[in-house]
Amino acid sequence: MTRTYRVAVVPGDGIGKEVVPEGVRVLEQVAKRHGFALQLDWFDFSSCDYYLKHGRMMPEDWKERIGRHDAIFFGAVGWPEKVPDHVSLWGSLLLFRREFDQYVNLRPVKLLPGVPCPLVGRKPGDIDFMVVRENTEGEYSSVGGRMFAGTEREFVVQETVMTRVGIDRVLKYAFELARRRPKRHLTSATKSNGISITMPYWDERVEAMAKAYPDVRWDKFHIDILTANFVLHPDWFDVVVGSNLFGDILSDLGPACAGTIGIAAAANINPERTYPSVFEPVHGSAPDIAGQGIANPIGQIWSGAMMLDHLGEAEAAASILQAIERVLAEKTLRTRDLGGNTDTVACGKAIAAAI
Ligand code: NAI
Ligand code: MG
Repeated sequence: MTRTYRVAVVPGDGIGKEVVPEGVRVLEQVAKRHGFALQLDWFDFSSCDYYLKHGRMMPEDWKERIGRHDAIFFGAVGWPEKVPDHVSLWGSLLLFRREFDQYVNLRPVKLLPGVPCPLVGRKPGDIDFMVVRENTEGEYSSVGGRMFAGTEREFVVQETVMTRVGIDRVLKYAFELARRRPKRHLTSATKSNGISITMPYWDERVEAMAKAYPDVRWDKFHIDILTANFVLHPDWFDVVVGSNLFGDILSDLGPACAGTIGIAAAANINPERTYPSVFEPVHGSAPDIAGQGIANPIGQIWSGAMMLDHLGEAEAAASILQAIERVLAEKTLRTRDLGGNTDTVACGKAIAAAI
């Protein structure tokens, strides 16, 4: 029997609606080549147009509608002229992350041919690592409050929450990932010199987890010098793991060191597969270029490769990456953000053809 994966496709807003079809084009091509099938169900919710019609970002039964799929292939959400960003984001994407317990946020950082690198003198091959961000707890907690508002005694408190379960599960994911990569190297982001309770605890859990992975070399850096080293020595890294806040910073800085937002990909993963994981480009809905057909579809297409990796189709995933690299190497096939003049559809078709 053919291997079949059920995927919920959610384009969302703006260029999401332009790049998702290109991601799907490439997925369907690679499925044909590698002998598996995709059952794609398209959804129009998690978009500002849906909100304007229904007064909410998603239907009440959204969890039943997409909760049993093998994965969610997501575009981008947000159109600030129609709906405030905190409403659109909290009413959709952030609900997925919470309710589907997607505690790993994963972003590849890889310098590809044809992509101008903001770091002087770096070439493809020099930068190739993964950032693993804890996605559910840590510094992003709602424990706290404000008292004596508006008076001289006014104060605010927001507590960082780090649990053994929460730290260990993301560290386990990161060590497993490091073990599967040729360099087998893990770097932990910390700040145990300044943040004297939670961060020493984080370090302690890293040390404990490392014992189960004697084949993985590991080190740690304080977050301040770590950000500097991303810029100065990106070749030092293989898998970098951090708490919610540190991971947030590193997962933007990393891809920025390797080029443009148009190609950056991301995954929000529930490793136990109790719930579907979300695969999406790093960029948003780009209202400034939406509707013109000029958006770069590579971030979306690369997210599709991450999805196939998660589904166990590693070879198919690798062939998408090779196709992206081959197309990027040709100046005439690049979109405008990379100095070319190809449009979204032509770029997607070129990558599908290169599979
Ligand atoms: P953005 O990522 O949408 O755009 C930033 C800049 O990068 C713009 O100049 C845009 O034209 C350019 N850009 C982005 N993707 C591109 C692509 N594929 N090809 C070529 N150029 C590209 O971020 P911005 O403008 O801050 O946010 C716009 C909307 O998107 C907001 O509503 C925001 O809340 C939402 N957003 C949603 C995200 C998501 O769904 N995960 C992530 C980031 C923002
Ligand atoms: Mg961020």
